[in-house]
Amino acid sequence: MTFEKHILCIGAGYVGGPTMAMIAHQCPQYRVTIVDINPDRIAQWNSDVLPIYEPGLDELVKATRNRNLFFSTNIEQGIRENEIIFVSVNTPTKTFGTGAGMAADLQYWEKTARQILEHSTSPKIVVEKSTLPVRTAQAMERILNTSQNHVRFDVLSNPEFLAEGTAINDLKNPDRVLIGSRETEEGLKARNTLAEIYANWVPREKILTTNIWSSELSKLVSNAFLAQRVSSINAISALCEKTEADISEVARAIGTDSRIGSRFLNASIGFGGSCFKKDILNLVYLCRYYGLEDVADYWEGVIKINGYQQERFVRNMLTAMFNTLSGKRICLFGFAFKANTGDTRESPAIYVARRLLEEQAEVVITDPKALDNARIDLADARGTVHFVDDPYEAARGCHAIAIMTEWALYGELDYARLYRQAEKPAFIFDGRNILDPRRCFELGFNVFSIGKRPLTHF
Ligand code: UDX
Ligand code: ADP
Repeated sequence: MTFEKHILCIGAGYVGGPTMAMIAHQCPQYRVTIVDINPDRIAQWNSDVLPIYEPGLDELVKATRNRNLFFSTNIEQGIRENEIIFVSVNTPTKTFGTGAGMAADLQYWEKTARQILEHSTSPKIVVEKSTLPVRTAQAMERILNTSQNHVRFDVLSNPEFLAEGTAINDLKNPDRVLIGSRETEEGLKARNTLAEIYANWVPREKILTTNIWSSELSKLVSNAFLAQRVSSINAISALCEKTEADISEVARAIGTDSRIGSRFLNASIGFGGSCFKKDILNLVYLCRYYGLEDVADYWEGVIKINGYQQERFVRNMLTAMFNTLSGKRICLFGFAFKANTGDTRESPAIYVARRLLEEQAEVVITDPKALDNARIDLADARGTVHFVDDPYEAARGCHAIAIMTEWALYGELDYARLYRQAEKPAFIFDGRNILDPRRCFELGFNVFSIGKRPLTHF
């Protein structure tokens, strides 16, 4: 069969995998190849157990794999044979040198740019999918335009807005698709080629086009605004705990204002995930670079509140449990940074687990999808940690249960049974406000929620 377009994606991660599976599924007339430097990852994508858990992804991959979706380690061949190249390699925060802890580490990304340059023998459209600092596309263009063999490269920015846990629906019915290009004749032509791919299933009016810099910045700002909502409601949760106000009531009241809206107002132990912190740090770095100190401080506040919220949670546990956690067994329900994913990147549970260990507590962790990642995250932690699949097993004999992730499963457990198995006095710290506090209290637990009055038996 001859395919209308040949599409390559470099980087088979949380972004590249689902996005390409969706393109392959919606466009059987295109041939889509995903390559990665990590052979284990590619082997997993080619097996029955995919490397990432995402509801609906298995079905999509099963329907398309080896039909018009291919996973391979042969990056060079991929570059040679495809005319459209998506780049979705990881861009973590730098851990060394200038900008350490703030700027994005672009080494994987630059390596990819150089590989594209080295192996291209025909014109390519290169699409930035990874979250990157503003102006990276320009750097990409500069690297690619050093070409000796006069191959033409057009660089586009096409940021991904999918959220983990809902990625398949986000890809299928996106609020918008954003494409940034140069506003030259060639740039506009490349932009149209990419828009044509999405137009196979996304209504035209949802495909927004703009210049590259606006596109890159919009991605950072979208995530900064979302994170800011979470930090805003979390900041108010601290005030609620000091007064008679209840954060759920406050969120409901403000969320019904159509100018504010009701989503992303769930108070929690704080936001996690691979994007929010990294993107805000990028934004802050960018502002400082341009001398905009006040703007940088403003956005940095969003991250500060997030750290504060996590520490506050641990302090509340310590105070409630008579100022000592030493030798106490504490069970964490959930380790993923949110429900419906096995991803633990920047999960608040990592911070909470480490702090509990510092307080010499014995920590028991359970999670339906994230235990393997939890083991890696805590590999160097000192103290006693257990990883247990079954939540009842995990909670047996514990002094406290702390809910870290809002998995539906944790709302449906038999809390009377959990109470019977618990060390007394028994405590629940609901870091996601998913339980009915009054019911748990009536079963015998001392209940601490976020932004609500504690319910205690003493
Ligand atoms: C986010 C963006 O939503 C997505 O558009 C972008 O492309 C990548 O980053 P993701 O990191 O998958 O997606 O998760 P998201 O659903 O945004 O949640 C981020 C964090 O905020 C999670 O830890 C979540 O638990 C927390 N959160 C979210 C809250 O604590 N309260 C809320 O009300 C909403
Ligand atoms: P994201 O959440 O942004 O998708 P991931 O870490 O899940 O990030 O995925 C990024 C993928 O990119 C990883 O599988 C990694 O092995 C891959 N990768 C990094 N550098 C390169 C490279 N130079 N060539 C190919 N793949 C790469």
